[in-house]
Amino acid sequence: MRTILIAGNWKMNMGPKETAEFFTQLDDAAQKNIEGVEAAVCPPFVSLSAAFSARKSGSAVKIGAQNVHFEDNGAFTGEISTAMLNVLGCDFVILGHSERREYFGEDDAVVNKKVKKALADGITPIVCVGEVLSERKEDRHFEVVKEQAAGSLDGLSADELTKIVIAYEPVWAIGTGETASPEQAQEMHAFIREQLAALFNEDAASTVRILYGGSMKPDNADELLKQPDVDGGLIGGASLKPADFSQLVAIAAGQK
Ligand code: PGA
Repeated sequence: MRTILIAGNWKMNMGPKETAEFFTQLDDAAQKNIEGVEAAVCPPFVSLSAAFSARKSGSAVKIGAQNVHFEDNGAFTGEISTAMLNVLGCDFVILGHSERREYFGEDDAVVNKKVKKALADGITPIVCVGEVLSERKEDRHFEVVKEQAAGSLDGLSADELTKIVIAYEPVWAIGTGETASPEQAQEMHAFIREQLAALFNEDAASTVRILYGGSMKPDNADELLKQPDVDGGLIGGASLKPADFSQLVAIAAGQK
């Protein structure tokens, strides 16, 4: 059985002060070790330390970053290394988010290097794929997602595939209030799993978690998480509110 992952992508929100407040306001129930559910938040780099300090001792909420560089160190102004994330104890790193792809020119080849680096250094990559609206309208969404998945995961072993998390985020549903229907999400998640079975093997493909992302919130999470191939959510807007995030964890806990 795949463990559901509820992961918050805070994007460029929540400085150290707000981050500390978030943890004080999070329900105790959401911080418990819940069988079959994992919860994580990914604050901006400057708030990571605050998140580790503010997280209650014994809290099961994991902490991740939103990006990382693929080199060990050196002349890469503005970048952060996996070693730096490991000093803090980050469990996850979001890679290839559509905003990184669109505004910062990241392509599948760069994402692939980052995925390999994170895996080599023991940080679980959450690898994002997803089509833009015009691609869906032109009925090219399967083709686009297939290419992104193949490119971003190129050269990984089947064993490595089981150590990553994939997030399907239709770009037209991110921050727009528009969500993929549970059927649309399930259809794409099943398709991704099928592609992974062909690229790697059945076992690895059935083990890897595929999250849905794009306007997931307490109102629609239950229906999305009920889909057999939806193994959690990568949540932007709703993850900034401790009450909503707590509720999303509770909804996930009610699934299995
Ligand atoms: P959203 O963002 O939940 O605000 O749509 C999701 C994401 O971009 O990861």
